[in-house]
Amino acid sequence: MKNILLVIITLQLFIFDLKSQEWIVPDDKKSKLSTFPFDDITRKAGEKLFSVNCMSCHGTPGKGNFLNLVPPPGDPATEKIQRNSDGEIFYKITTGRGQMPSFKSVLSSPEIWNIISYLRSFNKTYQQQVMAVITSSAYPGADIGLFLLFNSSDSTVILRASATKGNSTVPVTGAEVKLLIHRTFGLLTVDEAKTTDKNGMATFRLPDNLPGDTSGNIMVSARFVNEELFGSSTKDTSLCAGIKTIPVNLVADRAMWNNVRKAPVWLILTYSLGLLTALGFIFYVLMKLRDIFIVGETLSSEKPSKEK
Ligand code: HEC
Repeated sequence: MKNILLVIITLQLFIFDLKSQEWIVPDDKKSKLSTFPFDDITRKAGEKLFSVNCMSCHGTPGKGNFLNLVPPPGDPATEKIQRNSDGEIFYKITTGRGQMPSFKSVLSSPEIWNIISYLRSFNKTYQQQVMAVITSSAYPGADIGLFLLFNSSDSTVILRASATKGNSTVPVTGAEVKLLIHRTFGLLTVDEAKTTDKNGMATFRLPDNLPGDTSGNIMVSARFVNEELFGSSTKDTSLCAGIKTIPVNLVADRAMWNNVRKAPVWLILTYSLGLLTALGFIFYVLMKLRDIFIVGETLSSEKPSKEK
């Protein structure tokens, strides 16, 4: 019995260990590159950010003094972390896994790239590749436009980004784009940010059962993630991609917040019963007081006659 348990535990640990080694990064994230070159300024900024956010677990790079966690965080100066591509490190820092926290809402993209530039300074063989982006400044005077198309067969939205100048239009490639939908209280991001391919296209998946207006229309808005680079061109359009929804009139039916005429029946009943009970009780107490008074009267009128 003991042996079997031991085998099971070892097996579990083994499986856990196998799983823990694989940290799969989606293909389109692997090749992500920084849009700015790493230099002494970015390394210095990265070092500061690293000591605030990462040192507690990963220790000082090159010292091997990382925390003893399972799976181990690892020393950033070693092969374990350096064999990752820039995109993989970026992805792992943004999403996190297990004990490794997600820094998505803690650090901005440039801050994460600064940290990566600091981590890469411990790798003598590292050669940086900078993302070649078509920027609006690469197209002086060009109009950078976004176009959206809804494909109802698989509920995807296809986005195309292009730069137009005069008669020539070229696709905007390698640009990160995001898709937002208009909700009652602000904008909701759908799917993840995507990178446009060589045709300047990116495909977003819409969630199923999106409530639209009475004819099933939803307002969507496409934007570049990096607005400093591409300018804040947006594309707002109405797509028939939602489910027809009749808006609910909050005061049409009997409801708690409505006025007396339309208050729910149970509420009127409960209220009336409560009121009646309270009044009845007061009446009962008054009657009792009256009884006491009457008894007092009879007693005081009998007393003298007894003494006589
Ligand atoms: C709370 C502890 C903790 C903090 C803080 C932390 N990490 Fe981690 N990190 C881990 C652990 C644990 C792992 C291993 C996770 C796994 O493999 O499942 C890890 C894994 C990683 C990896 C992937 C290593 C590999 O094998 O591919 C990178 C890169 C990384 N961390 C970078 C950072 C950076 C940069 C920061 C700061 C912005 C940071 N971590 C902050 C605990 C931490």
